[in-house]
Amino acid sequence: MDLMKAMSERHSVRDFKDEPISEEHVSELSEFIEQLNNKSGLHMQLILNEPKAFNSLGVRLITYYGNFRNVNNYIALIGRKSDTIEERCGYYGEQVVLKAQQMGLRTCWVGGTYRKVPSACEIGKGEKIVAVIAIGYGNEDGHPHKSKAFNEVVLGDADYPIWFRKGVNAALLAPTAMDQQRFMFELKGNKVKVRAFPGPFSKLDLGIVKYHFEAASGIKVS
Ligand SMILES: Cc1cc2nc3c(=O)[nH]c(=O)nc-3n(C[C@H](O)[C@H](O)[C@H](O)COP(=O)(O)O)c2cc1C
Repeated sequence: MDLMKAMSERHSVRDFKDEPISEEHVSELSEFIEQLNNKSGLHMQLILNEPKAFNSLGVRLITYYGNFRNVNNYIALIGRKSDTIEERCGYYGEQVVLKAQQMGLRTCWVGGTYRKVPSACEIGKGEKIVAVIAIGYGNEDGHPHKSKAFNEVVLGDADYPIWFRKGVNAALLAPTAMDQQRFMFELKGNKVKVRAFPGPFSKLDLGIVKYHFEAASGIKVS
């Protein structure tokens, strides 16, 4: 499955099958995560068979969007504390999400409605857990989110090139916290800029959205 298809078919899934991720998938995902860690300097980890983060004391964490079910595996987004850690976790975490989608796994970004279980992860000195991504085989495929229109996330009114339109449309498919889509793209000459309005998890959102834009357009955001 190509990346564009993975972007359009990816939706948050919170209801998973009660079955472990296959050995083959574990090793493919672990290898991919390792490659991204080497590139990014992050310390992302695939945590397997760990139900406490999503089901503590038998009480399910209820979210605005509904309950999580059978979340026993997740990717912990961990890295050294810095000004850029959230944006990098968004940028690289979303690559894991899309890879998982291509492999037939389903995911959900989770910034708030989980419990940190530091004993399940390796957290080095000066590092922190930024967020997690629930992962597993879905009981469903999720649904397309309500989306803003192109014009609502682009500054100005110009004859935009196709690559820019492709990039922004892919950014509109990206997951954002509470589906806020609080970002704005701008094209000046050949330079693309994107900024996020302040809000919960907006830096994570920014990294995710940047990755979607770049992967779809083939152009780096400056
Ligand atoms: C940074 C970030 C944090 C999120 N945190 C949570 C969360 O704490 N709980 C939850 O149920 N969903 C969370 N989500 C999932 C969003 O609600 C979801 O991505 C959004 O509604 C768009 O839907 P979609 O992913 O199906 O496209 C988060 C998403 C992102 C990108």
